[in-house]
Amino acid sequence: MTEIIDGKAVASEIRDDLTDAIERLADADARPGLATVLMGDDPASQTYVNMKQRDCEEVGIESTHVDVDGDAPAEALYDAIADLNDDPEIHGYIVQAPVPDHVDYREVIRRVDPAKDVDGFHPENVGRLVAGDARFRPCTPHGVQKLLAHAGVDLEGADVTIVGRSDIVGKPLANLLIQKADDGNATVTVCHSRTDNLAEKTRRADIVVAAAGAPELIDGSMIGEGTVVIDVGVNRVDADTEKGYELVGDVEFESAREHASAITPVPGGVGPMTRAMLLYNTVRAVSLQAD
Ligand code: GUN
Repeated sequence: MTEIIDGKAVASEIRDDLTDAIERLADADARPGLATVLMGDDPASQTYVNMKQRDCEEVGIESTHVDVDGDAPAEALYDAIADLNDDPEIHGYIVQAPVPDHVDYREVIRRVDPAKDVDGFHPENVGRLVAGDARFRPCTPHGVQKLLAHAGVDLEGADVTIVGRSDIVGKPLANLLIQKADDGNATVTVCHSRTDNLAEKTRRADIVVAAAGAPELIDGSMIGEGTVVIDVGVNRVDADTEKGYELVGDVEFESAREHASAITPVPGGVGPMTRAMLLYNTVRAVSLQAD
């Protein structure tokens, strides 16, 4: 039987642990604060930041949201960032991507105080992660590691094929999984849109992580028997539903599950884990800033 890895349940356990940790911080008069910043009015981004605000409330993190007009100059966003860097009640914050075309996201990230960069995107934090000394693990890769651990997957010497080379998932996950650590020690192949013979690389893997942002790119014919399949994709595709779309992953779930030993669903797999790890990083930021 193929195990369906329940990200919602694992995320809920992590939130329960965080709630306890946050209560202990409250006893010491410390209350973690997270801010979300959104420039423009992209509907998917609005949904994401609303969910992050709700998550904070559930575990006892003080949350604030900053909206920046999508037509404003980049400086308006830089000003909001400078304010958050100076605000002692904000321990961490994220600037939701994508930002409007006239704003350079790299420059945005460079302006975030690395100690408050709970996304783990700042170049200093990227460097520390690659060096094996991560301050904050980026939320989605960290969530994938937690899911693999929960599913009892042994990474030691395992062949992992990651499909997707993004700065927020593919690259940091590859770096984490090759590290000398209990949740590392894997052999990692990173594939992308220019990879030749993609199916050959996914078929020979013990673990496939699909993070290409391409709806149902990976089907059952590309999955070897007994493979663990982690689907990071969240793609809105047109559908005859109330909202006019449905969410599908980068994996064709029904055909892939025929071959997989374990697989994450979309929704309810990696997504809830990403959100939980943002809360985790916020609590971590409080401890690091207290040191
Ligand atoms: N947009 C899509 N994923 C993310 C994320 O993890 N962090 C931020 N800031 N924006 C995103």
